Amino acid sequence: MPNGRFTNHIESPNGGSVNERRSLHERFRSRLIVDPTLTRKAVSYQGNRDLPGFRWLKYKESFSRGLVERLIDDVQPDSVLDPFSGMGTTPLIAAGRGLRATGIEIMPVGVIAGKAVARAANGFHSDAYSSAAKSLIEHVKSYKKAAEQHAFPHVRITQAAFPQETELEIARAREFIATIDDITIKTVMNLACMSILESVSYTRKDGQYLRWDYRADRKLRSRIHKGKILRFQEALYTRLEEIKEDVEPLKELYGRSMPTFLTGSSLQLLRKIADNAFDMVITSPPYANRYDYTRTYALELAWLGYGQDDFKTLRQQMLSATVENKPKREWLQQIYSNSDLIAAALGMSDAQNAIHEVVDILRDHSSELGNPHVIRLIEGYFLEMAVIVAELGRIVRPGGTVFMVNDNVQYHGEEIPVDLVLSDFAEQSGFRCERIWVLPRGKGNSSQQMGRFGRRELRKCVYKWVRCDV
Ligand SMILES: C[S@@+](CC[C@H](N)C(=O)[O-])C[C@H]1O[C@@H](n2cnc3c(N)ncnc32)[C@H](O)[C@@H]1O
Repeated sequence: MPNGRFTNHIESPNGGSVNERRSLHERFRSRLIVDPTLTRKAVSYQGNRDLPGFRWLKYKESFSRGLVERLIDDVQPDSVLDPFSGMGTTPLIAAGRGLRATGIEIMPVGVIAGKAVARAANGFHSDAYSSAAKSLIEHVKSYKKAAEQHAFPHVRITQAAFPQETELEIARAREFIATIDDITIKTVMNLACMSILESVSYTRKDGQYLRWDYRADRKLRSRIHKGKILRFQEALYTRLEEIKEDVEPLKELYGRSMPTFLTGSSLQLLRKIADNAFDMVITSPPYANRYDYTRTYALELAWLGYGQDDFKTLRQQMLSATVENKPKREWLQQIYSNSDLIAAALGMSDAQNAIHEVVDILRDHSSELGNPHVIRLIEGYFLEMAVIVAELGRIVRPGGTVFMVNDNVQYHGEEIPVDLVLSDFAEQSGFRCERIWVLPRGKGNSSQQMGRFGRRELRKCVYKWVRCDV
């Protein structure tokens, strides 16, 4: 690979074997290309911060609008699917161009944002919105105590997240929203309130966890200084004004058609999609990096009424990316009624020797691992991704294209070439891996890992797979 930042030299700091990872690398070497234009801003949310609609919810895991536009321009499809659609970047942009567009997403937080933007762009009544927004602000400022049932429905990890005054204002907002009948206005108001919760709270999203400000009334091991915490009514007013400003540009940008948003797990919903149904897939699954969406989006999920058990259920239904995820093998066999597709997917994952190589080393060092369940995480992640990739091989028409964004990861100093393993699954599922574009700046390993295993930059990539003609 023509770039010095990423080493072609694969080694195991634990003295284990690297033969399988080397041979996979050899196979894909000519297709790994560093693309200097793929900066982080060009790929991820940072590029969307000020854009109409996308600025309504800080969904840090989302694509940049520019990336999706570039990929659609490259392929010129009639239909586009994103099976991990987050806040709906892919379906919104594709539908905005008049394409048939579908997003599947398991977390309602992103789905609500996508739906709110799509509805604002398609047949929105600005006058009804302005009047509801005015009444909402008046109600929040009214100083009347809201009825008990409208209090913020806290779960354990959100307790004491807001100053007392904010709790009262939130309850009044919830009380008002409960009276709105118009589903579009209700969705947008819900989104407006949900989207500001972090900014009015003592918390900050930080990778795997919520970090807490020193002013929160909680026993904490470490605390941050968050700076000014906005008052709910102030933050809400600003967001409602932003939404008003964005409606006209949104009609222009995304007003050509409504995307379809399916809420649920792709592990269940993809199998309901017909063979060859899509020309193109643009997607970014969760990374195998222990990031726990249910923790970072705890405030937003609680706002939506998720109780303690719902959090646990959602975490288990999500693609396995945390140490808490239990194996889904038997469940997948059941829902797929032992079909040929599931047998092929499980076979592909069972025969993935680069993963066995890493897992064997980690098993040998399990007593040194911070959490030995990372082994279960790795096995679960690749098994589930094998099912997803096999499904894409069925759903994407011959000649169609998949673009996938994902990061490589490392555990205990052992790098897992996620890009090569998933591209291997793709090639067994009817695709040809044409390119793996590598972002010029990779992901550094954590300071803890760096101290023990040396500095290593992990590839962040965009893969292009083209479905072979049959
Ligand atoms: C990297 S983010 C994708 C963000 C998206 N590209 C965007 O522009 O907003 C991965 C998404 O996958 C979702 N996810 C995790 N497990 C899922 C599953 N089993 N089915 C569908 N979505 C899932 C997560 O909630 C998260 O929003």
